[in-house]
Amino acid sequence: MDTSSLLRIQNLHAGYGDVPVLWDIFLKVDRRKIIGLLGGNGAGKTTLLNVISGIISPMKGRVHFLEEDITFSNPTRRVQMGITQIPEGRLLFYGLTVKQNLRLGAFTRKDKASLEKGLDAIFQLFPRLAERKDQLAGTLSGGEQQMCAIGRGLMSRPKLLLIDELSWGLAPLVVDHIMVALKKVYEEMELSMILVEQDVQLGLEFSHRAYVLETGRIVKEGRSEDIIKDPDIRKSYLGI
Ligand SMILES: Nc1ncnc2c1ncn2[C@@H]1O[C@H](COP(=O)(O)OP(=O)(O)OP(=O)(O)O)[C@@H](O)[C@H]1O
Ligand SMILES: [Mg+2]
Repeated sequence: MDTSSLLRIQNLHAGYGDVPVLWDIFLKVDRRKIIGLLGGNGAGKTTLLNVISGIISPMKGRVHFLEEDITFSNPTRRVQMGITQIPEGRLLFYGLTVKQNLRLGAFTRKDKASLEKGLDAIFQLFPRLAERKDQLAGTLSGGEQQMCAIGRGLMSRPKLLLIDELSWGLAPLVVDHIMVALKKVYEEMELSMILVEQDVQLGLEFSHRAYVLETGRIVKEGRSEDIIKDPDIRKSYLGI
């Protein structure tokens, strides 16, 4: 048995109604690794994350997490097991405060006593959120909303964090700031991440291994430091 493996996806096909948008996906995430899931508009990145978090059931194939077959487990069970998704577009509750949004991230946790400690850790990671903890989430800037969405995800104490389009709509400086914080999260908490990015350069720089999706199929996979040197990838995605 491969004890280093956290998530294993085999021969996965998925889509909407009868229409497949992902074909024959094999993907593996080891413990304490950052995986880039990269590709252009409509490649199927979000669909794949939604299969992993249980929002979409696959048409074919298996998904294993910690050696358990979770192919048809519901999303709440997966959060309890340690899979947490930070959705595309952040999807905060805009009429609730920052603190209330963060608390909601811990909805599956039974140890309510340690909740406050969890909040403190998020506020240390993102001091901006501490300053704005009683402010409505809808009044935050885009970068602060992304910090709040990440913080909410971390409140469930995930083993695998799925992050969909972290950089979308944010200024480069704000993206840098959030990446530094994520690196700290990776170093301090025992977790793995799948980072979905249209910004292929950013995704490759930040990950250990990566998969490149094109129209629903994996066309490239390997160590990120190798993929970043790949002539096809440089031409298609990096404009070099
Ligand atoms: N709810 C849905 N119903 C039907 N088709 C969908 C739905 N959501 C996505 N699709 C289709 O599935 C394909 C993959 O979409 P998906 O959102 O997974 O791509 P993506 O790689 O996340 O794209 P983006 O970078 O634009 O977010 C696209 O052709 C899209 O039109
Ligand atoms: Mg998407």
